[in-house]
Amino acid sequence: MERVVEVEQVSFEENNQEANLRPSSWDDYIGQEKIKKNLRVFIDASKKRNEALDHILFYGPPGLGKTTLSYLISHEMNSNIKITAGPMIEKSGDLAAILTNLEEGDILFIDEIHRLSPAVEEILYPAMEDYRLDIIIGSGPAAQTVKIDLPRFTLIGATTRAGMLSNPLRERFGMHFRMQFYTDKELAKIIQKASSKLEKFCQDDASLEIARRSRGTPRVALRLLRRVRDFAEVEAEDEIILSRCQYALDELGVNDKGFDEMDLNLLELLISNKGKPMGLSTIAAALSEDEGTIEDAIEPYLLANGYIERTARGRVASVKSYELFRLTPPALEKKEETLF
Ligand SMILES: Nc1ncnc2c1ncn2[C@@H]1O[C@H](COP(=O)(O)OP(=O)(O)OP(=O)(O)O)[C@@H](O)[C@H]1O
Ligand SMILES: [Mg+2]
Repeated sequence: MERVVEVEQVSFEENNQEANLRPSSWDDYIGQEKIKKNLRVFIDASKKRNEALDHILFYGPPGLGKTTLSYLISHEMNSNIKITAGPMIEKSGDLAAILTNLEEGDILFIDEIHRLSPAVEEILYPAMEDYRLDIIIGSGPAAQTVKIDLPRFTLIGATTRAGMLSNPLRERFGMHFRMQFYTDKELAKIIQKASSKLEKFCQDDASLEIARRSRGTPRVALRLLRRVRDFAEVEAEDEIILSRCQYALDELGVNDKGFDEMDLNLLELLISNKGKPMGLSTIAAALSEDEGTIEDAIEPYLLANGYIERTARGRVASVKSYELFRLTPPALEKKEETLF
């Protein structure tokens, strides 16, 4: 099912549009203040020492700005950035080719780094640790290891699933940053800046309205903004106003918490289980979605905002979810039973 608040799948066209709206300076990069503060210190220090920046790992749900931050770092370090992704590096030779083509101080960005194969990871360890490539030539007893020195580079890894990263790989990153969901205020700022770039200014209250329905995620906010702008354009309105915004978002089926059908289906499913935890595979089967999508794209926001809870035996709907549907949570019902 296609989601307007989908964060993971990005079409080619959308990717292009995203690139246009991508912040090109620290000031345009709103929020994630702690990460920004830390990064700036590390960047300044490594510039002063004239060294390559330590390897960095960004993790967190999709659409929160990992790729954008990586571009900003390369901009700030005045270095080239090479972009690739875990699934694109099939053989160890592919990675070796990428590494030997790097120049001193370059940044290598590997998206979805949790999807590297173990054989490719092996190549990465000495490269990250000692800037060295160990290549095995030949096989059997005649096999030889050739060591090749690599330029000092910075690896930036991004992943939506830190838990799937192997320990040796995780430990080789000098810095780990967990991306946070954005506040409505931060999202509103992002929306307003983007709306100026789109030449259809979004008024304050309208920006906040879009922000509230964006699941704490800039990618969703920008997508909703583009949709709302279409509605405003059709009505020949010069600016994006609150009422048009509300109308458009309702038409798009985005509720006032930013939940769409997928979120609501998940919550309803958990509620129907009457307080008993439900395992991920059962949820996936019931919703006809794969487990990865549920874990990476749907759950994090619901967890972060206390709509669902994760227990050792599975997921349960929280009191907040029952309130959303105006239902009485099972625990409360029990209490009443014992009272009377
Ligand atoms: N802090 C921010 N300020 C302004 N715009 C942002 C910010 N973070 C992200 N964006 C915008 O949101 C969009 C998505 O961000 P980005 O592609 O960096 O996310 P991501 O974390 O790399 O997602 P994925 O995990 O899917 O690769 C970009 O178009 C970017 O312009
Ligand atoms: Mg990305």
